[in-house]
Amino acid sequence: MTKVTILKDGPLKVESDDDIQITDHDGNPVPHREGRPAYLCRCGGSKTKPFCDGTHSKIGFAGAEAAVEAAEETGGGD
Ligand code: FES
Repeated sequence: MTKVTILKDGPLKVESDDDIQITDHDGNPVPHREGRPAYLCRCGGSKTKPFCDGTHSKIGFAGAEAAVEAAEETGGGD
């Protein structure tokens, strides 16, 4: 089984019983630590994309869930 967890205001955590294969847009493998979860950047600020480097906490990244809630509270959006 492969499990993807959206971490609150942070990366996507990808875990699998099998090896996780990450490739670039051309299909070239992107090396990562095998046998361990992969943490994929969701904020766009990582210097080690596609992996999270912790920048999300420095830039105050608010996950989509929080952003949607905030927009609904303020009537914001478009
Ligand atoms: S989610 Fe952690 S650096 Fe982007």
